[in-house]
Amino acid sequence: MFTVKNGPFTETAADAVLVGLFDKPLKFEGVLEPLDQAFSGNLTELVKNGDVSAKKGEAAIVPTLGYLQAKRLVFAGLGKDKETDFHVIHEAVTKAAKLAEKSGLESIAVILDSFVTENVTAVEAAEAVFEAWFLAQFHYTGYRTPGNEPEKLLTSVLVFTESDPAEVKAACKVGQTMAMGTNTARRLTATPSNMMTASDLADHAQELAGRYKFEIEVLEREDMEKIGMGAFLAVAQGSVAPPKMITLKYKPHEDWENVLTFVGKGITFDTGGYSIKSKEGIVGMKTDMGGAAAVLGAMEIIGELQPDQPVMAVIAATDNVISANAFKPDDVITSLSGKTIEIKNTDAEGRLVLADAVTYAKQQRAGKIIDVATLTGGVIIALGKDKTGAITNNEPFFEQVLEASRESGEMIWQLPLTEHDKKRIRSSDVADLNNSPGRDGHAIMGGGFIGEFAEDTPWVHLDIAGSAEMSPGVMTRTLAILALSEVESE
Ligand code: BES
Ligand code: ZN
Ligand code: ZN
Repeated sequence: MFTVKNGPFTETAADAVLVGLFDKPLKFEGVLEPLDQAFSGNLTELVKNGDVSAKKGEAAIVPTLGYLQAKRLVFAGLGKDKETDFHVIHEAVTKAAKLAEKSGLESIAVILDSFVTENVTAVEAAEAVFEAWFLAQFHYTGYRTPGNEPEKLLTSVLVFTESDPAEVKAACKVGQTMAMGTNTARRLTATPSNMMTASDLADHAQELAGRYKFEIEVLEREDMEKIGMGAFLAVAQGSVAPPKMITLKYKPHEDWENVLTFVGKGITFDTGGYSIKSKEGIVGMKTDMGGAAAVLGAMEIIGELQPDQPVMAVIAATDNVISANAFKPDDVITSLSGKTIEIKNTDAEGRLVLADAVTYAKQQRAGKIIDVATLTGGVIIALGKDKTGAITNNEPFFEQVLEASRESGEMIWQLPLTEHDKKRIRSSDVADLNNSPGRDGHAIMGGGFIGEFAEDTPWVHLDIAGSAEMSPGVMTRTLAILALSEVESE
């Protein structure tokens, strides 16, 4: 798929050559000098006259008109070299890939050193270029009949660099793997719920387990009845599709203590149940398993890149539908933890399935828990769609998650959880907890409810209801980066 080479790039016959271009002054010097020479100085002319420009984060494409063997040049605009970083390269290469795609490229050559600055190494640049390019390549073709799928996809990438080819190659793999895991999450999320049931999610997990030697366990309805997963089962009660509680364990060595655990909301379709959604609100609810998708995408990355620390994934998968058997408002249910819950709203189902998933994760020796969920419309009102809302019971752990999100570029914003909030979550006349204490601080009520089950285990809740709509696959990379980062021993 990709090859890394030292040496001259001007002879490559790739469909396009990808070049990073710095601003002010925009010059073909250093590594790019041979390129301008190949064009008999005409590139400099084109830039001077403003015929070619790629501003920071933008891209431009020009035909090579026989000056090079390659057919096109694709410029990624990087701004001033001192200001360029991973994220600038990412943005520019995304645009470049989209532009290039229109010409249906099957092969590209990357002049990697044209992206390198005092602040950005070849390794960082390689990771950014590969991640961005393969993310930009994603298309959900869905179930369009043949002939309607998009154009050709990239099959070969040639990277030219003067840096150590082995190191650069490893970085290319990291970038590509991050993108592929995210694209998996996007594909799972985009698949309609009639083709992405809890069983389909379990099949996907099974496939990952086979490929990467994860341990896997899938609890069936009867298993869950035996151990008393009453909160999850209440949500699944109305469904004819078998619910699944899916656990994946990545065990790089014998130790299985204090395990970093990702818990995903896998509601394959959310009708709201008897607290039914409006005909407008219900459309799009196939994506209510976006949290599960991010967790599965991250596990794919972990399987590929094999970090040192053990990781567990727990996914609560079912749909939330209406039938004669479905749970109802006013019902009282008993969760796996033993805590009882009064149902005020069957549309607040995510926190219920996650309650049992979190308790189950703790039973499986989770030491740090991140739950990822399209949990509330409230988080969209509070933060908009470009940020993921977070809640925590442990600031140092949250800092680690925040740091990973800074690296991935997936923005997180923390919401408070006060004693007053907790009191509201515990406000039921007939049970320990209330699943919907009213619309005030809606996103906090949802996250805080899950926190009642995390108890003392360090926990971060990520509400992606808005961010997953704007950026499907969101949090896949943040989770993976966290798993790949060094664990500080306590
Ligand atoms: N799946 C929804 C949240 C959601 C809303 C996701 C919009 C994506 C886009 C969740 O289960 C839900 O229905 N939440 C309710 C909670 C309320 C009943 C307390 C909501 O946000 O309205
Ligand atoms: Zn709901
Ligand atoms: Zn939901």
